Amino acid sequence: MTVSFFDLHADLPREGPGLDNSTRRALAMTGMSGALDIIDMGCGPGAQSVVLLDALPEARVTGIDTHAPFLAEARRRAAAAGHAARFTAIEADMAAPPLSDACADLIWCEGAIYIIGVVRALRLWRRLLRPGGMVVFSDAVWTTRTPSAEAREIWADYPEMTTIGGVRARIVEAGYRNVGGFLLPEEAWDAYYGPLSARERRLREEFGDAPVLAEARAEIAARQAFGYEFGYAMFIASPAAA
Ligand SMILES: C[S@@+](CC[C@H](N)C(=O)[O-])C[C@H]1O[C@@H](n2cnc3c(N)ncnc32)[C@H](O)[C@@H]1O
Repeated sequence: MTVSFFDLHADLPREGPGLDNSTRRALAMTGMSGALDIIDMGCGPGAQSVVLLDALPEARVTGIDTHAPFLAEARRRAAAAGHAARFTAIEADMAAPPLSDACADLIWCEGAIYIIGVVRALRLWRRLLRPGGMVVFSDAVWTTRTPSAEAREIWADYPEMTTIGGVRARIVEAGYRNVGGFLLPEEAWDAYYGPLSARERRLREEFGDAPVLAEARAEIAARQAFGYEFGYAMFIASPAAA
């Protein structure tokens, strides 16, 4: 058998750098609580959805993702945590979510906004927000103004990547204001790469090497070698007054 991307990624705790604590910290920075309607764009296997449901006992979360097995896993985790009735999973493109206008108090998007880009996402999602609503997202950022050629090569698939200041400028360009944010700690990378690395090793021992495994090893090694040049940051944005 040739190991596929989804053999490597199935049932990992999370699909990108992040921490439950960082999700809770960002939620606290919104100042929002109570019976919120939340959309988790690119929810993957539901790591953030479950943290939000745990933190907000009256909230409802709708997870949007294009990969059905991730949605099934998110549903399973929400149910295991006792939140089945407050979690809905929808297989859909985050660029065209089948949701009505003004249906959400919060739009959450950890590690997935790069798929359609910050400015496009914020503009497209504006119609979904109720008055006072906010968007919380995390994204890869340069932590230096002059990334090395090696670091640029690592992120060649994300040419729009910029600094925290650059993302904040895009938030304003999209018609929002910056409410707050923070750089995720190094443990956020460990929380993703630790389980990914263990899975990579196990699959290689069982089935032999495969391109997808080599890619994962290279990605993890690049973080170790050049991680001081890039990070992951959380951003909180609210629509600017019209
Ligand atoms: C890097 S993962 C992040 C997943 C999750 N938020 C997490 O942190 O574990 C990106 C997710 O976006 C999903 N995705 C990719 N393209 C998408 C699209 N156009 N619309 C919705 N989800 C998408 C992928 O299936 C994947 O679950």
